Amino acid sequence: MSADRGVYLTEFDIHVGYTHIKNPIALAPMAGITNIDFVRDHAMSAGLAVIGGYNLDDATNEAAKSINERRRAEFVTPEPIKHLRGELDCLKGMDDHPTIALNVRSTEITPLMEAALLAKEYGAILEIDCHCRQPEMTDIGVGEPLLQDLQKLGSIISKIKKTEVVLSVKTRSGIVDDRELAVAIEEAGADMIHIDAMEPGFGADYNAIKAVRNATGLFIIGNNSVTDFRSAKDMFGYGADMVSLARAVPKIPGVIDDLVRSVTTFQKQTGWYNAPKHICSGGDDRALTFCCLPVKRCAIQRVLRRYGLTPQEFADLKVELSRGTPLELGDNTCFGTLIWCCKLTKPCFMRDAVLDQIGISGVEYMKLKKRLSEGILERLRNSQSQLP
Ligand SMILES: Cc1cc2nc3c(=O)[nH]c(=O)nc-3n(C[C@H](O)[C@H](O)[C@H](O)COP(=O)(O)O)c2cc1C
Ligand code: SF4
Ligand code: SF4
Repeated sequence: MSADRGVYLTEFDIHVGYTHIKNPIALAPMAGITNIDFVRDHAMSAGLAVIGGYNLDDATNEAAKSINERRRAEFVTPEPIKHLRGELDCLKGMDDHPTIALNVRSTEITPLMEAALLAKEYGAILEIDCHCRQPEMTDIGVGEPLLQDLQKLGSIISKIKKTEVVLSVKTRSGIVDDRELAVAIEEAGADMIHIDAMEPGFGADYNAIKAVRNATGLFIIGNNSVTDFRSAKDMFGYGADMVSLARAVPKIPGVIDDLVRSVTTFQKQTGWYNAPKHICSGGDDRALTFCCLPVKRCAIQRVLRRYGLTPQEFADLKVELSRGTPLELGDNTCFGTLIWCCKLTKPCFMRDAVLDQIGISGVEYMKLKKRLSEGILERLRNSQSQLP
């Protein structure tokens, strides 16, 4: 997570720029459905509620009317800013409501800038909809076509960011190169990427989340087919900072409340709700913190090669970054210190005996591993950026 972008996480103290997000569960947008009334009915416990998609100019509102005519729900908002202000005003004076993001579309830049200023005024997030594939929208160049035109998308992002709004971009994976897309979004200055990791016929494509996690420091909202804690945990394990749900919310009563409860319990038990899977189980590069001393041929070799690091240099880096911490202890573990030890959720009586002996809780152990992970990635990315 890149602290220099104003993004940092402390035990469910999730901040992106000026926003404070109370937990990592989000409502995803559904046009014509997810407005503030919907949030009040289904998603008050969520950390983030993305409402919309709202149409901000004449062209998108005309497209929305045509979509309505074929009986697909859309919001038609002839006075969009007034309408959105009204929506945001509904939450005034309400305690503990989710952070709001406005998912929006427009063929023109001025309405996007106006919506950005409004979102900022209310401490909300603006989200550009690069996801919609309804032909009436794609024909006028909004929604998914923006994924195909990185120059245009980058220009829109950098103009909007001049307002200093916290900006998210809603994407769909598998349309273009997910890595290239995410890097372009990050370089243009957006803060967050909200990825519908859709794999037609197969549910979610976690590798799309992992590719973006490994390539950028963007705050990632992972989306698609999250219906319970198991599917949310998978999304977290491949690098999502938050998960969002759309279709499950009206279908499964209380699904957001249940997920918020489960992830809160998990965070209390483990201290790192989105800890990565081990590299050999397909996890992202944050999982180098859980890697063994690299003495055998295994999946770590591929990752080290990508960063141009020898096994010895990696071993030295982990030792250096753990110096002076309790991770240096642990004679009775496989490799002689906790530096090389596995994730807490992997049962191990040897590691747990050491933690007991030195008086470190599992949660504290995971926080040390998280800090080590951040240190490793910072060092690896810095050394990569200095390559000619
Ligand atoms: C009826 C409906 C309307 C949607 N409208 C929007 C939209 O306006 N903007 C957007 O970015 N995504 C929209 N989506 C996509 C969802 O936000 C989400 O990415 C997708 O449904 C996959 O997540 P899920 O498996 O949790 O449903 C819509 C989805 C549905 C089902
Ligand atoms: S070093 Fe250990 S944890 Fe890492 S990929 Fe290899 S076997 Fe898995
Ligand atoms: S002691 Fe347990 S936790 Fe540590 S490396 Fe060995 S198996 Fe993993």
